[in-house]
Amino acid sequence: YFLGQQHKPLAGKKVIVTAGPTREAVDPVRFFTNRSTGKMGYAVAEAARDFGADVELISGPVTIELPSGISVTHVESAEEMFQAVMSSYDEADIVVKTAAVADYRPKRVHDHKMKKQDGELLMELERTTDILKTLGEQKKHQFLIGFAAETKDVKTYAKQKLESKNADMIVANNVKQAGAGFGGDTNIITIFHRDGSHKEFDMMSKKEAAVHLLTEAIEQIGDGQ
Ligand code: CTP
Ligand code: CA
Repeated sequence: YFLGQQHKPLAGKKVIVTAGPTREAVDPVRFFTNRSTGKMGYAVAEAARDFGADVELISGPVTIELPSGISVTHVESAEEMFQAVMSSYDEADIVVKTAAVADYRPKRVHDHKMKKQDGELLMELERTTDILKTLGEQKKHQFLIGFAAETKDVKTYAKQKLESKNADMIVANNVKQAGAGFGGDTNIITIFHRDGSHKEFDMMSKKEAAVHLLTEAIEQIGDGQ
């Protein structure tokens, strides 16, 4: 067989990876965000690059080192991430939505720093666009990989997400489990497929998890051809 093909199974493929948290502005000095560090997403981008793919990494604000050989688009808010993903979606073969996208943003972004008042503050929040769901609705040839960060009932929620977002694969983890949480170098993933099957993996480095999830995707894409 052709050895190069074995080592570069994503040669000629365009892979979009979203990573990190988003920031949803409150006023010029404040924002809402979450605990995502971008480690899992960056590991996926690097693994896809090593598999020969043309990778576009769309990254929320993170402090980890930028990978070499990967074009990076920096975004802050869920809306910016949505626009960036949509503008490359047509050319993508695989989209990996590793990012921890905010579900809500302040309904009103204040032009000036909010001054504190006596008593409580109530703030109205509105939904952001569900990027993965939109990608699922507009899917043509693309293979869509979503993540599911859960704290309980991982299997039930992951299967629901696979369906409701029209994804081709969901990579789920219980972020309360030791070795699988935000910020660490390891993860404990379960991969859910459209045929109803799933595969549980032991704790491994995020880099190894990235290789496994891409390998699962490549197998699925191969089956579908
Ligand atoms: N996601 C997205 N856009 C959003 C929210 C989530 O694209 N506005 C994507 C995430 O990148 C992830 C998947 O959807 O790949 C699942 O995210 P998660 O937060 O686990 O699920 P939600 O659908 O947001 O549901 P909930 O937070 O209520 O569990
Ligand atoms: Ca969410």
